[in-house]
Amino acid sequence: MKGIILAGGAGSRLYPLTRVASKQLQPVYDKPMVYYPLTTLIEGGIRELCVISTPQDLPRFMQLLGDGKAWGLTIEYREQLKPAGIAQAFLIAESFIGSDSVTLILGDNVFYGGDSFHRAFAEFKSGATIFGYHVNDPERYGVVEFDAQGQAISIEEKPKQARSNYAVPGLYLFDNSVVAITRALKPSARGELEITDVNVAYLRRGQLRVHRLSRGFAWLDAGTSSSLHEASAYVQTIEKRVGVKIGCPEEAAYRAGFLKLDQLEELTHKMPKCEYREYLDKEVIAEARRLAASRP
Ligand code: DAU
Repeated sequence: MKGIILAGGAGSRLYPLTRVASKQLQPVYDKPMVYYPLTTLIEGGIRELCVISTPQDLPRFMQLLGDGKAWGLTIEYREQLKPAGIAQAFLIAESFIGSDSVTLILGDNVFYGGDSFHRAFAEFKSGATIFGYHVNDPERYGVVEFDAQGQAISIEEKPKQARSNYAVPGLYLFDNSVVAITRALKPSARGELEITDVNVAYLRRGQLRVHRLSRGFAWLDAGTSSSLHEASAYVQTIEKRVGVKIGCPEEAAYRAGFLKLDQLEELTHKMPKCEYREYLDKEVIAEARRLAASRP
């Protein structure tokens, strides 16, 4: 399965922060925002990635993430000239997707906890898999309604009156027909190719699975000044309390088997002396060496 990180958009809700750097490059506590969705994909075992952003911002993503080789990945880049909808990503990245299935993650979605995604990636065969997450304010999102048997029966984009409290987070898994489905879509009233319309098309075909994420799972979107601040505070609280980092692509690549311990060490030692390097050195590398040495 291939992975797309969608990191374009105008970032107008974060103005003036976004005057010189796009939303997905802003810090969420101690890392650039895009590190979090990138890490989620790596944890899901995805190593062929494509980052989509605006022509102005794409060079900065290239500078930050490079060709992905250092993390055992390949990263391609594509431009989105105008924010014409999330689903447009499948048309922009058509040559990258080729004949594979694809997962799309929004560059401003931060996830933490549980193995729901890992399982969904591992079990995915065909159709579409999306998630439902209980929220207070479903009207801000795509909303999924379930019947008494727990089957999804409707999905609506930002409804005035939500039929449930289950929002659809910005992580979607699709088989290869997503390209043809998107090509047949008409832009919505707001002029966008809507990801919700893609999901509705799979629902109509009887090929949509919706996993409800458990209560212990955290989904934060960092799209407004206060949600950005809350996401930072959340990451800081968890990292301090638990002593592990959220959104650390180097660690995720090592744990996914994309990097050997020696490669991780080499990469870490190229970093300047900082708390991030110290974490990788002490909590990941030294710990792995200690475990290896204690094995009979
Ligand atoms: O966060 C999850 C929600 O994301 C879903 O529940 C909704 O169904 C989905 O439509 C979307 O809603 P948003 O209102 O958050 O979408 P927004 O237009 O803010 O775009 C989300 C991210 O995708 C944002 O970081 C910018 C990026 N984007 C968006 C569009 C429309 C692009 O890169 N290009 C685009 O054309």
